[in-house]
Amino acid sequence: MTTDATTQGELAAATAQRRTFAIISHPDAGKTTLTEKLLLYSGMIRTAGMVRGRKGGKVAASDWMGMEQERGISITASAMQFNYKNAVINLLDTPGHQDFSEDTYRTLTAADSAIMVIDAAKGVETQTRKLFAVCRMRRIPVLTLINKMDLPGRPPLDLMTEVEQALSIHASAINWPIGSGSEFAGIVNRSDNRVQLFSRTAPGGATKVNVETLMLDELARSGRVSDDVMAQVQHDLELIEIAGNPFSREPFLAGEVTPVFFASALTNFGIESFLDAFVDLAPSPGARLADRDDGTEVSVDPIETPFSAYVFKLQANMNPKHRDSTAFLRVCSGRFERDMVVRHHRLNREVRLSRPHSLVAQTRSTVEEAYPGDIIGIINPGLFAIGDTISVGGGFNFKPLPQFQPEIFARIRPSDVGKRKSFDKGMEQMAQEGTVQILRSLNDLESLVAAVGRLQFDVLQYRLREEYRVETVLDVLSYSCSAWLEGEVATFKLPSNSMIVKDHRGRIVVLFADQLMKNIARDRNPDHVLKDMG
Ligand code: G4P
Repeated sequence: MTTDATTQGELAAATAQRRTFAIISHPDAGKTTLTEKLLLYSGMIRTAGMVRGRKGGKVAASDWMGMEQERGISITASAMQFNYKNAVINLLDTPGHQDFSEDTYRTLTAADSAIMVIDAAKGVETQTRKLFAVCRMRRIPVLTLINKMDLPGRPPLDLMTEVEQALSIHASAINWPIGSGSEFAGIVNRSDNRVQLFSRTAPGGATKVNVETLMLDELARSGRVSDDVMAQVQHDLELIEIAGNPFSREPFLAGEVTPVFFASALTNFGIESFLDAFVDLAPSPGARLADRDDGTEVSVDPIETPFSAYVFKLQANMNPKHRDSTAFLRVCSGRFERDMVVRHHRLNREVRLSRPHSLVAQTRSTVEEAYPGDIIGIINPGLFAIGDTISVGGGFNFKPLPQFQPEIFARIRPSDVGKRKSFDKGMEQMAQEGTVQILRSLNDLESLVAAVGRLQFDVLQYRLREEYRVETVLDVLSYSCSAWLEGEVATFKLPSNSMIVKDHRGRIVVLFADQLMKNIARDRNPDHVLKDMG
């Protein structure tokens, strides 16, 4: 075999091992707990309870920004890499706070699959819906984990129906719970009727647990579960056998079917079998579409195409000791090596990738090599913008990242007018990083900001204060949607509670109180076009 063939073989093997994914959930569903269990079962940590930053005071690996620590939340997404059995896992961390930002959405563009965690008592909640919509847009396969089965929850059939209806996806149960809350006895694997028994007395949680298993009919005969619970399980299993969706991998990979697993992350119950299934089912990095310079499309194969990557996130000041900014890149093809010289498509020049790092736990380690699916952070001396493509061969640009519709708008100004210059500079930087979108009043006198979630405004104000020494006054406005206006501004009939502004490229934007007003404006102005911003 030639050296090249060996290298190619290594690249193919490394790519096949990769699982790059994100966890999507509503706050409190158990994302942090599941992440911790992943680290526990992969041997990254020996006792669970270390990663939690929230109440225990221990700082999560990703909590690097002062504000995140102050508020005990993880604001900006980061990535963790570790081995689980034979797989190399890249877990993209998405914020778990009530409010979230475009960053969260964009992070999902770097994922090849997602795990959706649902609280068994609450079902599908708002944030899960929004994040799922992005997975759907990108056709990312999603695995569903219905968590907290040790607590009283909703009937599993209801939860399955809700997943299907709320998310317009077929749900296929891989296992099924036996009882719930105080009567929760375990889960039965549908393919072989093997039951994993839940034990309340097992020292679950902090360390790995060994689970007792037996067959479903053995359980029924053992008298360990009440007749009512057993009858309910038999009934449910028969029903889903007849009316449920069979599971097969192809529709799952196409984002049409989600396999559903029941578990209790806190007690580690059902977690190891879930993680094993995840590694089996979730796809390794595949080809990505890009535009060639001549306008034609090209499919960038992870193995055939030499190194290429794109920037999905920029972040400043990750380390307070160094005032640096980091560009996070998702490797799409080929093997990355330190000090590599690559073609920067937008700038049409070569750049040397000299200070790459990956983020593992609380330390940054320098990356010597990386493979498709991996996330690398490059110290960014102002060369990278969100969406930038770099590649060894050059000549193509990955499809632009989707822009997400802002849902919240505010007026912002420096408290001290003398700070206008630093304010403008800071705003420019934040807009470039995608923290917020900047708008201006038509007379240029007022600055407005638009974001997907309120948290982005907090981050903006915090960073303007910390990094640019500018205190700001921010008034949230009562608009909740917007559109670009095409046509004469002068003849546009503006509905009440609306406002005309312009974006950073000078395009006219209309802000509306709500979707209803936007629809009214469309009806009243048939000669104008209102184009959704996104
Ligand atoms: P999040 O990251 O999605 O926001 O959720 P997180 O993992 O922080 O979990 C939210 C709460 O739910 C935590 O309790 C956590 O211990 C609990 N939890 C997670 N999974 C399970 C489960 O399977 N069963 C039970 N009974 N509880 C679960 P907390 O009281 O808010 O925090 P803490 O005091 O435990 O730190």
